[in-house]
Amino acid sequence: MKKLNLPLLLHLSLCVISLFFSCSKDSTSITIIQPAMDSLVNNYNLKTLGAIPYPPNNPPIQERIALGRLLFYDPILGGEKNIACATCHHPNFAFADLRQFGAGTSGIGLGPDRILSVSNISGEPIQLEPRNSPTIFNTAFNADESGQPSHMGFQFLDGRVNGLEEQAKKTITSRVEMAGDAYTAEAALDSVVARLQAIPEYVSRFREAFIQEAIQFPNETIINGDTYGRAIAAFERELVTRNSPYDHYVKGNQDALTQVQKKGLELFFTKAKCGSCHNGPMFSDFRFIVNGVPQEGNGKEIIPGEDTGREEHTEDPIDRFAFRTLTLRNVALTAPYMHDGVFETLEEVIRFYNDGAQPRHPDIADMDLDPVLVEPLGLSDEEIFSIVEFMNALTDPGTALPIHLLSVPEEVPSGMPPIFGS
Ligand code: HEC
Ligand code: HEC
Repeated sequence: MKKLNLPLLLHLSLCVISLFFSCSKDSTSITIIQPAMDSLVNNYNLKTLGAIPYPPNNPPIQERIALGRLLFYDPILGGEKNIACATCHHPNFAFADLRQFGAGTSGIGLGPDRILSVSNISGEPIQLEPRNSPTIFNTAFNADESGQPSHMGFQFLDGRVNGLEEQAKKTITSRVEMAGDAYTAEAALDSVVARLQAIPEYVSRFREAFIQEAIQFPNETIINGDTYGRAIAAFERELVTRNSPYDHYVKGNQDALTQVQKKGLELFFTKAKCGSCHNGPMFSDFRFIVNGVPQEGNGKEIIPGEDTGREEHTEDPIDRFAFRTLTLRNVALTAPYMHDGVFETLEEVIRFYNDGAQPRHPDIADMDLDPVLVEPLGLSDEEIFSIVEFMNALTDPGTALPIHLLSVPEEVPSGMPPIFGS
């Protein structure tokens, strides 16, 4: 018997099926194929998030994502075993904490209600974090120096780390954030790894999540700084929210935005000049910009009481007070705003820009400020309102994500309560 040409047959039958469907489709599908859309999409080069940029050695393996999730909620990562990543990046708060400043080790309560205390080990007070906790949503798309989303994208507001894998190793070293007085910053990663190696469930889960590496690293040695960072990053990288009204609009649903939001969008890219920094799929160019935000909080290392931004990492005074342009995706869910949470509402943020970056940090003169920001914008109250409305359209709290990526696990391998102290 003559051999059937299977691929051809399959192709032909698919054509027939698709023909049938396109004939029977209702009128909504016609608007999707039409190339002509609101001119706003083309005029302002509006973009949605593309494919997640994965590092070659960290593809989305289900066992690894599940392991990263458990680590993210496990207080075993805290020096004093009383804080988890999720304390400050909680799914109920859009993976941020809704506080002006993060409250780490030894606190009690969650989000705005969390109260700080003293170290369980030394009895010394634990201060607030010097910075506002950003959301983890869409950090997979943080860009690198090229401005393009990258698995080596900048993390932290001074960009001192590239890539989620590296970032996960840093957090556990900070005294106020997670380490407490249990160990020095230098000893933190080894100490956390040793703790994880002593928990049989983690050993077996790491072995399942890193099958290729398992030959090289027998037994508990499969848990090391490298696999620890990759597991947490694998979880975080899936926290992508591409289902906002804005995204639907760009994909062709002209009714996804209200008239007021469309007006706000136009202003955002024209008179209000927001789009000169907040652009691309993340509404951020990932540059480091002096935008003059006044300083609140404890500050960081270089000048006591101040946070000098990018300079904290580069130690180059040319970078003084420059902060990474922040994403505006889900910004409506993550008040308060700016690196030090100095503004409580989006309206307050726009009024700051509208007044030529006022109230301004007293040490930042007009000539130090990014030139785009010096002149007041002259926006009316109505225009300010419409820009707020537009930013609201960038909201998607993960509506298309599988539910387990948004929920707190019932238990974690250390046996401690997930997000201890909440
Ligand atoms: C006590 C609160 C707190 C805890 C606990 C915490 N973070 Fe954060 N996180 C912050 C703050 C504050 C920043 C911003 C710091 C900066 O820019 O210097 C941040 C920044 C980040 C960023 C960078 C986001 C961006 O866009 O720049 C990631 C990713 C992140 N944290 C992940 C984690 C992981 C993973 C853990 C656990 C291993 C963790 N965090 C634990 C408060 C916290
Ligand atoms: C010259 C570049 C630039 C322009 C123009 C600009 N921004 Fe920003 N924006 C930034 C930077 C940088 C930050 C972070 C500053 C910080 O944290 O201190 C920021 C932060 C924000 C935040 C806070 C986000 C958060 O999660 O805390 C909002 C909201 C915001 N900008 C909205 C706007 C709007 C609306 C406009 C137009 C009216 C605008 N921006 C114009 C650079 C810019």
